[in-house]
Amino acid sequence: MTISLARGIPAPECLPVEELADCAQAALRRDGATILSYGSTLGYEPLREWIAERHAVEPGRVIVTNGSLQVFHFLLSALPAGPVIVERPTYDRPRKILLAEGRELIEVPVDADGLDVDELARVGPAALLYTIPTFQNPTGTTLSDERRRRLAELARDRSLTVLEDDPYSLVRFEGERLPSVLELEGGEHVLYSSSFSKTVAPGLRVGQLEGLVASTYITPALLAQATVHEFLRRGLLEPSLERVSGLLRERRDAMLEALDRELVGQARWNRPEGGYFLWLDLPEELDASELLGRAVEAGVTFVPGVDFGGPPNSMRLAFSFVSPAEIDEGVSRLARLVASAPAPA
Ligand SMILES: Cc1ncc(COP(=O)(O)O)c(C=O)c1O
Repeated sequence: MTISLARGIPAPECLPVEELADCAQAALRRDGATILSYGSTLGYEPLREWIAERHAVEPGRVIVTNGSLQVFHFLLSALPAGPVIVERPTYDRPRKILLAEGRELIEVPVDADGLDVDELARVGPAALLYTIPTFQNPTGTTLSDERRRRLAELARDRSLTVLEDDPYSLVRFEGERLPSVLELEGGEHVLYSSSFSKTVAPGLRVGQLEGLVASTYITPALLAQATVHEFLRRGLLEPSLERVSGLLRERRDAMLEALDRELVGQARWNRPEGGYFLWLDLPEELDASELLGRAVEAGVTFVPGVDFGGPPNSMRLAFSFVSPAEIDEGVSRLARLVASAPAPA
């Protein structure tokens, strides 16, 4: 059976199926006439209020959509012309959307402390900076506290519009929580986008963005939003986060242990404090895309770093989806392929 270290989705055990079945039923019984009808374009009011309180903003600044990429499209259509600054590497989907829309990309590298803010300060004006400061997709890296403060300052000084995409920060396994760039900047230039996909369940398609108005649909999927609200109202988020973080931590540790056993001296990788992914660099002469062809035959998959704008010898390994035992076996398969990689021409 193929072991996927490619899929950045939650393991089935992470999904609180029974609780959500109860919550959906309770939400329908309590507020069915509202949630089955047309309602607020900006999302289910009680959920918007909950989010607003959590982020200390006015509910009027919160929009709950059917997913993060939807809000990304809304934002793009509201932006002036001009280049968009992205991290290198960055989440592949927004990158592809930007390229398809013909936006010029300005790529600023990510290192062990996240986005290189010195380099950012050197680039010219742009319509937007798209950044994932915490447990970044694809690298798993987190922007340091000091860089967060400088990024907030830079956004203010240059009137640079920033989209802080933050679906992973609540799935932290260790280390201190860091302030969001939104909190540090005060919300004048920073738009903040998060998601319940990693903390409740992706199938519900609930995302959030502050400071933007939507006009694509009359009403988003209110039943899903009311179900999430019921989940939150019952105080199920914190226990669910604890459970999900525990499951993910086990998986990250299984991956790190297997890498330490199998690939020391042959590759380099990081140790994320949360999220779904880690980043691995092979020796420079090896090509991860070539390796993937052989990996599929050997029953293991990953995503080559080039898909995210990274170098040819890099790859993203997701530890979110398969079991710890499968991760262990998947890394062993991968290591055998690296050891037998053909010498470069
Ligand atoms: C950085 C980032 N943003 C957004 C998403 C998707 O969020 P949603 O499920 O709300 O569309 C993902 C999922 O992989 C992600 O990695």
